[in-house]
Amino acid sequence: MGWLDGRSALVTGGASGIGRAVVERFLAEGARVAVLDASAENIAALRKDLPDVVVTEGDVSSFEDNERAVAATVAAHGGLNTFVGNAGIFDYFAPVATTPGATLSGSFDEIFSVNVKGYLLGVKASLPALLESSSPSIVFTLSNGAFLPAGGGSVYTASKHAAVGLIRQLAYELAPRVRVNGVAPGGTLTDLRGASALGQAETSLRDAANFPDLVRATNPLGIVQQPADHTGSYVLLASPENAAAISGVVINSDGGMQVRGLVQAAGGADL
Ligand SMILES: NC(=O)c1ccc[n+]([C@@H]2O[C@H](COP(=O)([O-])OP(=O)(O)OC[C@H]3O[C@@H](n4cnc5c(N)ncnc54)[C@H](O)[C@@H]3O)[C@@H](O)[C@H]2O)c1
Repeated sequence: MGWLDGRSALVTGGASGIGRAVVERFLAEGARVAVLDASAENIAALRKDLPDVVVTEGDVSSFEDNERAVAATVAAHGGLNTFVGNAGIFDYFAPVATTPGATLSGSFDEIFSVNVKGYLLGVKASLPALLESSSPSIVFTLSNGAFLPAGGGSVYTASKHAAVGLIRQLAYELAPRVRVNGVAPGGTLTDLRGASALGQAETSLRDAANFPDLVRATNPLGIVQQPADHTGSYVLLASPENAAAISGVVINSDGGMQVRGLVQAAGGADL
């Protein structure tokens, strides 16, 4: 028996990386899953590999696209128990000092549109269906950048901090009917893209040769995180039986980055 037997979930950005791993894990836990994603290429691969997943091609920053995805989910699965806001883009550490003003402004609008407005509009579009379902929940993908500097540039870091605020406000506003929580992955090997305004639409973490070493060196557990490493946290937060009393919290799934200290920075203790 799975932890999500008979539950229905919609995952944004579910055609790649962490979102796709969540889709696969939710299916394994007995859920019926739908996806909203903007990438035709990623969607084609998802449809081929997992034909039972209901897929909507669209942009999370469009309320209409979110509404279409929710309608497709409800039509196929008869309801919606969990909304997972996950689609996101990065800024590849763009520094304020050297990024031209107009570029910085464009990157702010683009990144906040996806990483913050996308979550808010996804919740707004999902809410009627969530409120009609049993034990509804919302889970957002955050980042170590939601709590610490240097997990991105100022714009990405601010967008993930903003999503923490969304979790707290929504957990308050939607109680007692809907639980709202987050998972904050550390650096993870995915195809995460940057903002077009920064000329990074084709830039991918996968192409950064030093990224695995950087991830390993900056978390105390010394692990190179893969998308599947985070999925248990999403399952827990979506599970009515196992997280009935959990709302307004974020699980840090980052190899212990929040307790990174001077010893680790110097190469780790000799244990
Ligand atoms: N990879 C990391 O190191 C890392 C670390 C912490 C947090 N995150 C967060 O994880 C989430 C997922 O990213 P990932 O690393 O799996 O990247 P990914 O690029 O592999 O997956 C993201 C998916 O979201 C889709 N997407 C992007 N913009 C969209 C939009 N406007 N509308 C609809 N779909 C859109 C993409 O097409 C892609 O399929 C993001 O919120 C990201 O900020 C990633």
